[in-house]
Amino acid sequence: MNGNGQTFVREPSESWGGPWTERKLDAFAKYVNAYLTIMQANPYWKTIYFDGFAGTGSRQTTKTLLYEQLQFTAEEEEGYKGSAERVIRLDKRFDYYYFVDDRQSLDKLKTRLMALPESEGKKLLFRPEDCNLELVQLGKTLRTDNFAALVLLDPFGMHVEWNAIAGLAKTRSDLWILIPTGVIVNRLLDRAAKLEHIARLESFFGLSEAEIREEFFRRETKMTLFGEETVIEKIQGAIHHIADLYIRQLKTIWKHVTTEPLVLRNSRNVPIYHFVFASNNPTAVKIARDIIRKV
Ligand SMILES: C[S@@+](CC[C@H](N)C(=O)[O-])C[C@H]1O[C@@H](n2cnc3c(N)ncnc32)[C@H](O)[C@@H]1O
Repeated sequence: MNGNGQTFVREPSESWGGPWTERKLDAFAKYVNAYLTIMQANPYWKTIYFDGFAGTGSRQTTKTLLYEQLQFTAEEEEGYKGSAERVIRLDKRFDYYYFVDDRQSLDKLKTRLMALPESEGKKLLFRPEDCNLELVQLGKTLRTDNFAALVLLDPFGMHVEWNAIAGLAKTRSDLWILIPTGVIVNRLLDRAAKLEHIARLESFFGLSEAEIREEFFRRETKMTLFGEETVIEKIQGAIHHIADLYIRQLKTIWKHVTTEPLVLRNSRNVPIYHFVFASNNPTAVKIARDIIRKV
């Protein structure tokens, strides 16, 4: 890991980049539109949009090694509209907008959003803080009044800690979360089962080392020339199992979770992220499922 807790990923550069981010943001924007249509018919709820990894609004964000490896083209960099801008540009509005990121990124985002006529009259709050701390705070806020929150957690890496997610239990919250199944988590679950970054995996899944080993590794006894030998093997299909396991964990917090998430693949058709939706409202999950199937 580097100093920011970001795991280095070694991936051939030609397999990165491109249309998957657009698919993710298109799916999300469609959901936001449907969400606001429903919520406007229920004015009893004060609505919050919580963007936990809001970014700068453009692609020239902090250039971590992982970001560099995503290799966005110049065209993609220029035409890019991030989650925050897409949500602000919608005709329908939330009562409050929370944007969380570091101060530098938020300054850029603020300048960009404030220049949009659609921002006028909207309550935009910029929180330069670790998203995990803000999530805990959000959980508390949601319990204080008639609030309903739509939460987007869209990090490139493994930044979301399970304890912070767990703070949203029993709240009126809908969540879209990007899980770095193929890019990072799968690599930390190394074939030799050394699990050098086990603390990171534990705080990510909200599971103990023993539980993680049990999910991803099998002890096999094999006959070799020298007699019986016990080897530890990583399970097949680990990337999808990471998503399934995370979904299983989300189901301990929300009643309904999309069991077939949006799978985002690189140019070699390898899954790199899974985009998952969770809510306590069955209708919300049906809407998300339909969007995932069509996007
Ligand atoms: C993938 S980008 C965000 C993309 C954004 N949602 C969009 O649509 O353009 C990730 C952002 O997360 C921020 N970030 C990384 N770790 C964070 C943390 N612990 N808390 C809040 N923001 C963080 C980075 O500064 C970066 O701007």
